[in-house]
Formats: sequence, structure tokens, C-alpha cells
Amino acid sequence: MIEDFDEVTQKTLCELEKTQRDFWNISRQTAEFLYNTIVNEGFVSGIEVGTSNGYSGIWLGKAFKSNGGVLNTIEFYEKRYSIAQANFEKCNVADVITIRPGEAIEVLKALPEDLKFDFAFVDANKRESIDYFNLINPHLKVGGIYTCDNVLSHKEKVQTYIDAINAHPEYRHTILDLPAGLSYARKIK
Ligand SMILES: C[S@@+](CC[C@H](N)C(=O)[O-])C[C@H]1O[C@@H](n2cnc3c(N)ncnc32)[C@H](O)[C@@H]1O
Repeated sequence: MIEDFDEVTQKTLCELEKTQRDFWNISRQTAEFLYNTIVNEGFVSGIEVGTSNGYSGIWLGKAFKSNGGVLNTIEFYEKRYSIAQANFEKCNVADVITIRPGEAIEVLKALPEDLKFDFAFVDANKRESIDYFNLINPHLKVGGIYTCDNVLSHKEKVQTYIDAINAHPEYRHTILDLPAGLSYARKIK
């Protein structure tokens, strides 16, 4: 919860919420949900696709930091990830967040095979959701959680991904009625 954060972080998050539409940030409600999920599950290693100016990354970074964990986040737009880096420093999470710059599919393909995550949050090119899933899946630990935003607001663009995860024998999937719609799946085997 935001009340758990230091004053600078609380202020920064409130400031960023004023430009939420310009940077396509997730809602506060979704951010709190992801934060609580990571903290409550005790997750220690995460991947985010779509950093933007770092709004969601601050929340995820705070959650991983409280568990002694780390976050990797991918963004191809230099202007945005520079702002994100500055925001991570301001909010004291830069030490647990690695920005991996570049085209998401290429960055995911280049991840070391032995890099494993217990949490994934996808929020970039909606039409590529299926590609992100196929590339992150081998890195997600059994018991981990895979999430993808905008599955209700961009239903048509993510349909291939939704069909794939619904039919996937290794995942138990549901869509949560958070703003924009959050796809939420646990890897069960
Ligand atoms: C919806 S915004 C992310 C918002 C962020 N998760 C937050 O809530 O603060 C999507 C971001 O993904 C980036 N993006 C879109 N397609 C991408 C791609 N193919 N590779 C890397 N980044 C991409 C965009 O530049 C944009 O900043």
C-alpha cells in the first residue's frame, strides 16, 4: 500500500498519476493489486514488459525490494526509460531494478536461459502479447504468476494470447475485473 512508502515515493506516485494518460500507466488499483500479490507471495524475481516512465516499476520495485528481490523491465523508447531511471532513483528502487532497453521480443529472446522469474507483468504492444508469453514461459518458475494488462480494454488485440493461456495445460488462468482488465495466471506445472 502507498501508505507503506516514504514521503518522496508517495509524492512521486501522486505526481505521476497526473500524467497517467500521457504515459499509459496502469491504474492505482491495478498497481496496488500487483504490489500486494508480489509481497504476499514472497516473490523475489520479476520481469516487466513495458516500462514507460516507471510508474508501475516503482510499485513492483518496492514490492520486490521488501522481499529482498529484483525486477527486470523492458522498454524500447529511450526518452521513457531515461525518465523511468530517474524515477527509480528518486524512489530508492534503482538498486533492485534493471532496465533492459530494446525491442521487447529481441530482449526476451536474448535473456540468459538460466534466468528464472516468479512473476511477470506484461504491458507493452498488445498484439505481441502472445509472443511475450511464449518467450517468458520458459523462464517462469512453477508456482509463479503471469499477468498481462488491458485484456478487457484491448480484447481483440490480445485474443490469441487469451486463447493460448486458457488452453495451456501448465496454467490456471482468470481475468480480473480491474480497470482495463488484468489477465492473471498461475503456472501450476
Ligand atoms: C502501456 S505503457 C507501459 C506503462 C507502464 N507499465 C506503467 O504502468 O507505468 C507501454 C510501454 O511499452 C513500450 N513498448 C511498446 N511496444 C514495445 C516493444 N515492442 N518493445 C519495447 N517496449 C515497447 C512503449 O514505449 C510504452 O512505454
